Amino acid sequence: MYRTHTCGELRLADKGKKVTLSGWVQKSRKLGGMTFIDLRDRYGITQLVAEADSPAGAAASELGREYVIKASGEVLERESKNAKMPTGDIEIRLESIEILNRSSVPPFTIEEQSDGGEDLRAKYRYLDLRRPPLQRALALRHRLAHEVRNYLDAQGFMEIETPCLIKSTPEGARDFVVPSRMNPGTFYALPQSPQTFKQLLMVAGYDRYFQIVRCFRDEDLRADRQPEFTQIDCEMSFVEQEDVLSTFEGMMRQMFKNALGVDIPNPLPRMSWYDAMDKYGSDKPDIRFGMEIHEVSELVKGCGFGVFDESAYIGAIAVPGAAEYTRKQLDELTEWVKRPQVGAKGLVYVKLNADGSIKSSVDKFYGPEKLQEVAASCGAATGDLLLLMCGDKRKTQNRLGVLRIEMGNRLGLRNPEVFAPLWIVDFPLLEWSEEDGRFYAMHHPFTAPKPEHEKWFYSDAKEDLERVCANAYDFVLNGTELGGGSIRIHNADMQKRMFEVLGIGPEEAEYKFGFIINAFKFGAPPHGGLAFGFDRVCALFGGQETIRDYIAFPKNNQGRDVMIDSPSRIDDSQMEELFLSSTAKA
Ligand code: AMO
Repeated sequence: MYRTHTCGELRLADKGKKVTLSGWVQKSRKLGGMTFIDLRDRYGITQLVAEADSPAGAAASELGREYVIKASGEVLERESKNAKMPTGDIEIRLESIEILNRSSVPPFTIEEQSDGGEDLRAKYRYLDLRRPPLQRALALRHRLAHEVRNYLDAQGFMEIETPCLIKSTPEGARDFVVPSRMNPGTFYALPQSPQTFKQLLMVAGYDRYFQIVRCFRDEDLRADRQPEFTQIDCEMSFVEQEDVLSTFEGMMRQMFKNALGVDIPNPLPRMSWYDAMDKYGSDKPDIRFGMEIHEVSELVKGCGFGVFDESAYIGAIAVPGAAEYTRKQLDELTEWVKRPQVGAKGLVYVKLNADGSIKSSVDKFYGPEKLQEVAASCGAATGDLLLLMCGDKRKTQNRLGVLRIEMGNRLGLRNPEVFAPLWIVDFPLLEWSEEDGRFYAMHHPFTAPKPEHEKWFYSDAKEDLERVCANAYDFVLNGTELGGGSIRIHNADMQKRMFEVLGIGPEEAEYKFGFIINAFKFGAPPHGGLAFGFDRVCALFGGQETIRDYIAFPKNNQGRDVMIDSPSRIDDSQMEELFLSSTAKA
């Protein structure tokens, strides 16, 4: 028998028991004729003690870091207890040690805090995964997946798998493709989501579907994006938006309660897309703190400051308690907003000094009374710093939104242990691209317009089409989009109109989506659904913004798995068999 207990299990109540543990040697040190060993497994660490002149003592002196051993002995009460460890009241006085496997010296320390850099730890991911922070992350992931399945099963959902080798899906990112050996010159696409299949399952009558499913998108990577990621993908028939929101609000509520012991508001707040853009400059607002955006165009135009006078929109945020910002700090902030990632041309500030005086970068054009009026309209008080930007309305709001998040970070207003979820609703159905001179679907081309907006959907005027809202919704938590979905089009004629609006001709529509248009002719029920990004859910529940640690074997920022060295070249013979040739040098 390898073990009677795990390394995290024994307590003072077990005193006197003869036990056997197996695990990895975290460290071993000699002290006054004794060898102390910290033995680790995924349940915890237990201290083992071997006397130098005992048989176990001889074996103990041979141990190195990460050796795998089986150790037997008696549970004793420790003289000097360690209150920080759950097993810290006891130790095992060893009678025997068996080395089950030796280990090379690990390239970094395998402890709570490691001394290894990110690249090194990625290369030896299996060693990094032995560390407690990663064990906790994966345990949380497991727990949340379990909660999802429990909740959805109790609500009558069926988990149904959908294929990975498919045809391009409509989520709008680039596809990963797989060449077909049996069908020369043709390719499968890996699913960006199971969107079309879940809609076909609705046509097939499986009215409550879900799947915890891998999705693939070849897009630029960020902290909250991986090329392969996991969705909690769901679809329901005979539902309206309200049914979908209440079902999944319920799921999130249960996940928060059971995994974190946190109660989220009931019902969750909802905000229209338009309000989110106007007040937070983002469709994924972080509502843990205020600092909302206020339009001040009317107040500041026509005072002789040309930059403002010529702008379509001028907006401001009031940063609490930041009037103390020095000239140097303000210059640095101005440079910060001019970076391409933010894209502002400049920044105007108004300091509401503690002594009641006002100092601004536009004193030449605005007297203190006017500035006070502007400040009051933004809800700013003495001690606050007002930051203004101008330009195109949505772009400026977006930049102010980015600045707001930055100031929230700098002022410590984004506590990861505070959870502020909400729904964003009433998204525009379509998004005009100036560059391409055409509309794109804001969510995806299967999203239905709101019934009361259908009159505009069938109009050919651009302004009418821009006004159409969708029955689409996003679940947002702490400034991150955790999930999104919509009520779908279930009528073949409306779907045809959608393709027409998107400039997808009948032939292209038939080629790309003929199978679903056809299916809609056979009695498609009204349906809708959504998908949560499961990796993001796990990371945010764990208080992190980076999803990598919540995935056992993630890719790096270049989309590489440096542990298995992938992607990599394939043999010439394999290339030939797949009818491929490559001019690129890896
Ligand atoms: P959407 O494209 O909004 O919707 O994706 C749903 C959720 O998936 C997560 N997500 C990602 N997570 C990690 N890495 C990525 N590269 C990545 N891309 C997306 C996000 C996002 O909110 N089929 C629709 C859903 C529906 O309409 O039912 C869809 O996929 O958290």
